[in-house]
Amino acid sequence: MDDTDRPDILLVEDVPSLANVYREFLRKAGFASTHLSLGREAQDYVRGHLPKLVILDLQLPDMAGIEILRAIKQEELPTAVVVITAHGSINTAVEAMQAGAADFIVKPFSAERLVVTVRNALEQHRLRTLVNSFRDDMGRSRFHGFIGSSLPMQPVYRIIENAATSKATVFITGESGTGKEVCAEAIHRASPRRAKPFIAINCGAIPKDLIESEVFGHVKGAFTGATADRDGAASRADGGTLFLDELCEMDLNLQTKLLRFLQTGSFTRVGGSKVEKVDIRILCATNRNPQTEVEEGRFREDLYYRLHVIPIHLPPLRDRDDDVIEIARALLLQYSKEESKEFSGFLPEVEAIIKNYAWPGNVRQLQNVIRNIVVLNDGQQVGLDMLPPPLTPGLTIARPIAPPVASAGASNPGVLSSAPTAIAVGPLWRIEKDAIERAIAACDGNIPRAAALLEVAPSTIYRKKQAWDEMAAR
Ligand SMILES: Nc1ncnc2c1ncn2[C@@H]1O[C@H](COP(=O)(O)OP(=O)(O)OP(=O)(O)O)[C@@H](O)[C@H]1O
Ligand SMILES: [Mg+2]
Repeated sequence: MDDTDRPDILLVEDVPSLANVYREFLRKAGFASTHLSLGREAQDYVRGHLPKLVILDLQLPDMAGIEILRAIKQEELPTAVVVITAHGSINTAVEAMQAGAADFIVKPFSAERLVVTVRNALEQHRLRTLVNSFRDDMGRSRFHGFIGSSLPMQPVYRIIENAATSKATVFITGESGTGKEVCAEAIHRASPRRAKPFIAINCGAIPKDLIESEVFGHVKGAFTGATADRDGAASRADGGTLFLDELCEMDLNLQTKLLRFLQTGSFTRVGGSKVEKVDIRILCATNRNPQTEVEEGRFREDLYYRLHVIPIHLPPLRDRDDDVIEIARALLLQYSKEESKEFSGFLPEVEAIIKNYAWPGNVRQLQNVIRNIVVLNDGQQVGLDMLPPPLTPGLTIARPIAPPVASAGASNPGVLSSAPTAIAVGPLWRIEKDAIERAIAACDGNIPRAAALLEVAPSTIYRKKQAWDEMAAR
């Protein structure tokens, strides 16, 4: 195989003598090519390297070449395909063209015929890519798991796409529920590493004494309970992407080890001595302000600069124009289908409320509200009476003049209650427990997020939960 990173042409031909002849034809015309003989290998290669063109023999030892063509079209890979057919098999050629081949070429063929076909296919491919990129820049409404055609999201989509091909670290920030994980997955899926693993580690959700082993693995006997060697996320992500979510929750000791890993590309397992090397792309995310974390000594400055290579900030939902409506409509249809309901839209006055609400919990909160509406009601149109708090008419206020920050308040930032609030009186620990449990439930069980809303460290919540469990066990 050639050692060029992204050769333009992949030749899939199982007869070595023919492959050599074709490659020589191409080489003389100035085209670099890679050659593979098996269909399976070719399929993996195309997914990983996205060559501009595949020259595909339809008769392969392990599979029909047309399946590769179909997979390329189905996965919408940006790769053109020219098929090689045997003399007299016109039906196969027709079938391949219908399946989306750019052209076909009948064996035996001359150098000139091959080169002309390849040139035309590459030119077609170039023009199509150009048209797509113009269309993309005109405003995308769906992009790798994101819904939303608003202007503030277009640069986000563009950075994801441009950053995806590189190995540079991407540092994703944004309030809770803005889509940081969606963004990380999009980068991986748009990258040449897409066929390799995407491993996500939530640094805030793993107890402090286990996280090093989660990231780097451990050897048997490294600590109580380490009954066998275990791979960490770094090993499992080899060749692919490691996503360090809630990065700012990582404790300083592990930050030092992570920095060393980033500088050398190598690590040792907990309790081990062997130095291991891996090839991984790192993505990280936080809903905190990383600069504040650095200033206040909770995050190493040198690590921050090492990771902060390509920043992506996801704007809060309230700043994304009509995206909130686009997402709400899509979710309504999706959830109605899942719950066997018949909703098809919102009454205009309901859309007005959805649009004006500040959405402090962003897309995740919108998901919860729409799910609530669909589960608890029936009908075709969502009316005002179906809106749950905090959107219940009379209880909501429009988006605040100054947007609230993620940690603006534990209960319902962005909402004023017009009803008098019943104040619970009871033991202080009980009230605290209620508040913490409510926050955890509001965050779908995500403790680091609940901790951020409560403005305490996740470890505080873990400690308190442990104390309550012990109390209950007594
Ligand atoms: N633009 C979007 N369109 C459709 N769904 C979205 C969009 N953004 C996020 N989501 C969905 O909203 C939910 C929350 O997104 P995600 O988990 O990526 O947010 P996050 O920023 O990582 O949140 P947190 O800080 O709370 O971890 C997910 O279910 C995700 O699929
Ligand atoms: Mg997240």
